[in-house]
Amino acid sequence: MTPPRILVARNIFPEVVERLSQHFDVESNPEDIIWTPAELAERVKDKDGVLTTGSQRVDAALLAAAPRLRIVANMAVGYNNFDVDAMTAAGVQGTNTPDVLTETTADFGFALLMATARRVTESEHYLRAGKWNRWSYDMFAGSDVHGSTLGILGMGRIGQGIARRGAHGFGMNVIYHNRSRLSPELEAECKARYVSKEELLRTADHLVLVLPYTPESHHAIGAAEIAQMKSTANLINIARGGIVDDAALAQALKDKRIAAAGLDVFEGEPKVHPALLEVPNVVLTPHIASATVPTRLAMANLAADNLIAFFDGRGALTPVNRPAPKRA
Ligand code: DGY
Repeated sequence: MTPPRILVARNIFPEVVERLSQHFDVESNPEDIIWTPAELAERVKDKDGVLTTGSQRVDAALLAAAPRLRIVANMAVGYNNFDVDAMTAAGVQGTNTPDVLTETTADFGFALLMATARRVTESEHYLRAGKWNRWSYDMFAGSDVHGSTLGILGMGRIGQGIARRGAHGFGMNVIYHNRSRLSPELEAECKARYVSKEELLRTADHLVLVLPYTPESHHAIGAAEIAQMKSTANLINIARGGIVDDAALAQALKDKRIAAAGLDVFEGEPKVHPALLEVPNVVLTPHIASATVPTRLAMANLAADNLIAFFDGRGALTPVNRPAPKRA
């Protein structure tokens, strides 16, 4: 029997590609070329499975070009690059990589919160530019983290990880808003109190966004929401670009409508709204919240495990949809 044909759409750990090669006929992308949708469609037309990284769009057009395709394994917990309905209709299984990145991403959420509140990158740029020639009492004075109010919008696993760090590590008063409320046990563990979105916006000193990107969450934070925040508040986005209206945020930062922002994700990334590059009170990082070597390796291995389990008949380990089985 010929092994299933798999496309690994971006360059990933060679040892994971090697692992896949022990099970499948693999085409990989070691030069890490960013294929256009047409180039990707050309490569998937004879494939049974694809490993994507979150930057390849899997939509009806791609699926139409891939009559044999049965599974797409995303190496990311977020899967807004999937048109899940189109995949389900086409009988294509989708999978993601939950859990393995939770703590690492929560660590980074906290790192970005701290860097934003304490103006770490802004002050480093000042120092590197040779501008530091005297101490002054208000130089880069920021906002406190300990004892302040941490607001979390989106209370999945990563949101809960951030809540635990804030409540137990920094004595923060944690409030959250989510589509559904946590169980009383989880609320107690996270020391988090459920509030309306309005109360969250009005009372958080540090507002962290950890919700999935969907049509409903598009521009969940725009000019009207920023207007409700404290003028001393910091906004942190480690979720997805598009949840924040970046143009409105840049204007609010310029006007000092809020104190500062920390952004790991951007609308239309890797492009960054030019106005964000002009304001000093924002910490900008290139979508690295899950980027530690062990976590990225665990994500790649979980995507590979999904492909292996699917084709050996055990079924996808972390499915995001339940398509009717496609005829081989
Ligand atoms: C994820 O896993 O969704 C992260 O954003 C990395 O892409």
